[in-house]
Amino acid sequence: MKFFNRVEEIKEILSILEEEPNLIYFIYGPINSGKTALINEIINNRLDKNKYVVFYIDLREIFISKYDEFEAKLRATKTFGFRLIIEVLFEEYEDDKKPIEIIRSLIKDAPSLCGIPTPKNTLEEILKKKTTKNVFKYITNILMDIKREGKQPIIIIDELQKIGDMKINGFLIYELFNYFVSLTKHKHLCHVFCLSSDSLFIERVYNEAMLKERVDYILVDDFDKETALKFIDFLSEEILNKKLSDEDKELIYSYVGGKPILIINVIGKLKHKNLKDVLNILLMDEISKLKDFLSNLDYIKPKVNIEEEIIEIRKEDIINALKLFKGKYEIEVDKIPKAVYVYLVKKNILFLYPQRGTLKPQSFLVWNAIKRVL
Ligand SMILES: Nc1ncnc2c1ncn2[C@@H]1O[C@H](COP(=O)(O)OP(=O)(O)OP(=O)(O)O)[C@@H](O)[C@H]1O
Ligand SMILES: [Mg+2]
Repeated sequence: MKFFNRVEEIKEILSILEEEPNLIYFIYGPINSGKTALINEIINNRLDKNKYVVFYIDLREIFISKYDEFEAKLRATKTFGFRLIIEVLFEEYEDDKKPIEIIRSLIKDAPSLCGIPTPKNTLEEILKKKTTKNVFKYITNILMDIKREGKQPIIIIDELQKIGDMKINGFLIYELFNYFVSLTKHKHLCHVFCLSSDSLFIERVYNEAMLKERVDYILVDDFDKETALKFIDFLSEEILNKKLSDEDKELIYSYVGGKPILIINVIGKLKHKNLKDVLNILLMDEISKLKDFLSNLDYIKPKVNIEEEIIEIRKEDIINALKLFKGKYEIEVDKIPKAVYVYLVKKNILFLYPQRGTLKPQSFLVWNAIKRVL
């Protein structure tokens, strides 16, 4: 499907890329707002391929399989975390060529690479040394080679929180960020972008002293109303070969708001279904999910860890928190106890804007369900 809009975000990112690297950028926003689609649009269609070499590392693909295989105990070792970082960042090649030669031949066909190419056996050598210092030095050398060829390297890590999630790796992610600071703020060698929909992770980054003034944030939110209505026009012409009435457009927006994936879903179904039915089914589904969530609270006693303290949450606190959204889409964080909103964010019911200090439902659909159920 054709990419739609995001003019401002694209402009911002392209202008960052034109300057020399200075900060680490965190691209964040609610689930399915279009962060990955945006970055892919930039990589594939907006970048001058003669100027940039992009390493796009998608942790979603890498982790789901690997992470579960290991027992918690093993995961908690430094060696494991170290191995993981290596596996995430590098891509091994059978060729015995130098990395820069591999890169030269790869970028002829594709604008972006899925990892830092490493000749066979080199990875084992790096792993034997078991220090991040060697790994980072190895990467820096490759980045410098790229610079010498007159190109600007860019590292993009999608779903970065997957590393941050792992408690073990507290120190490891710290080292990685430190390295990114050196690549950007100190050496101005490589642009670094990290994508995440985990707003609690972004909040931790936001409050991390080591990163103060070394990072910046780009919010990729669901579309605002005006853009969402235009997106509906764009899709209905693409998919249905017709325009929808203003009433229908308003109705769609009132159910699903500006979340691209939901709008795509609705318009796609209009090929063979009636609009009101489509919207009602979506809402009923969301309502039943919310009801399940709430009734499960009678059996499980949810707990969250807030600054090393385990806090148990009561169902009535959750209900009271959700009720606050009945009349408002966005509210200040201090209206809800931290443990309660952390739990609701983890459950993907709420989204936190760390910079604004506010919370909102993950989508209009969730918001509508809250309004109906509570
Ligand atoms: N601007 C857009 N134009 C066309 N399609 C879009 C746009 N933004 C998002 N989409 C579509 O919406 C879906 C979700 O987008 P995407 O996966 O990029 O969201 P995300 O924010 O990366 O999600 P997650 O939070 O899971 O990482 C995709 O199918 C994508 O193609
Ligand atoms: Mg994504």
